[in-house]
Amino acid sequence: MKETRKNYPVLFSEININSLTLKNRIALAPMTRTSAEDSGVPSDRMLSYYKRYAKGGFSLLISEGTYPDEMYSQGYLNQPGIANGEHITGWRRITDAVHKEGAKMFCQLMHAGALSQGNIYAEKTIAPSTITPKGEQLGFYGGEGEYPTPEEMSKKEIQQVKEGFVQAAVNAREAGFDGVEIHGANGYLLDQFLTDYTNNRRDEYGGSTENRVRLLVEVCQAVREKIGKDFAVGIRISQAKVNDYTHKWAGGEKDAEIIFSQLNSSGIDFLHVTEYHADAPAFDDNGPSLASLARNWTNVPVFANGNLNSPDLAEQVVSKNEIDVVAIGKAALANKEWALKARDAKEMEEFDPEKFFVPDAKIKNFEL
Ligand SMILES: Cc1cc2nc3c(=O)[nH]c(=O)nc-3n(C[C@H](O)[C@H](O)[C@H](O)COP(=O)(O)O)c2cc1C
Repeated sequence: MKETRKNYPVLFSEININSLTLKNRIALAPMTRTSAEDSGVPSDRMLSYYKRYAKGGFSLLISEGTYPDEMYSQGYLNQPGIANGEHITGWRRITDAVHKEGAKMFCQLMHAGALSQGNIYAEKTIAPSTITPKGEQLGFYGGEGEYPTPEEMSKKEIQQVKEGFVQAAVNAREAGFDGVEIHGANGYLLDQFLTDYTNNRRDEYGGSTENRVRLLVEVCQAVREKIGKDFAVGIRISQAKVNDYTHKWAGGEKDAEIIFSQLNSSGIDFLHVTEYHADAPAFDDNGPSLASLARNWTNVPVFANGNLNSPDLAEQVVSKNEIDVVAIGKAALANKEWALKARDAKEMEEFDPEKFFVPDAKIKNFEL
């Protein structure tokens, strides 16, 4: 009998992350949907939403950005938390359902810092320095107008933030997650430390690139130390931000070397990089992509995200041996069964922003 050709053999090959085996290289990218209860407890809608991706063949779901503590970390109203017992119980239903469908799930731990525009626990915002963020609050998450000016974090507050991430990782494990992704990207608190223009601290957390990446490294180390060896821990890194799409690291490839090698020695199991186009040059017209720089300076699996919408392109990038796992965002919103469609060579739906971005996050019946 003639053997039928298997579509996308590399995309559909297994990979190990720490002690986990993923059945393919296709992950759901973290996407905030502001659909939790007011208390941050994951809702029934979220349960059926995540279940669809697990049924749809993704080997790994990375949760939407989830706030780690009951202080300054919440960024958006109706964002889920992983900060208390009710949050843990709520997530447990989701991780159980996802596991039943044969997928794994990581919790993305996100501290919004100066970009917080909705927090049920606090009035003020905190950040590395007293600098009003660029741009405006995100309307589709219920915000409007300028961001408030944050207060500069004291050393004690830096310590509290670290402890918050550590406790959240412990909570995530209790909630049945298979790992955590620390959100070091997209303009939120840890990226505010990393970014030159949002950090003018004069202590060991500001100034040089080594100093600006210090807190990210310390958070990864502290989580690893507390959680032990057998739980997947990674971090997400980007140049661009939700309030500054075109930002580039001033030090170019040298910055990439410092940032990635420091993170590599922090005990992480994977590094997730996101760019507008994951396979495009990071700095010049034809230099290496951020993912290939991550590959260069680390010895852990590299996840890459950004416009890897078609299975052909996804297969191509994982075949180059620079990227181990592709994370799919908007194309997955439009195709909850993206992985099965890829496997069976079925046509994909186009992403329609009108369907998924609603101007008022308080409208609770928008499509997830
Ligand atoms: C609705 C929406 C919500 C998002 N929320 C998050 C988030 O919570 N955490 C995060 O790291 N990235 C978030 N992102 C960014 C995505 O993970 C991803 O980087 C981006 O969509 C680009 O990838 P894509 O081209 O595959 O869509 C969000 C993107 C969208 C469209």
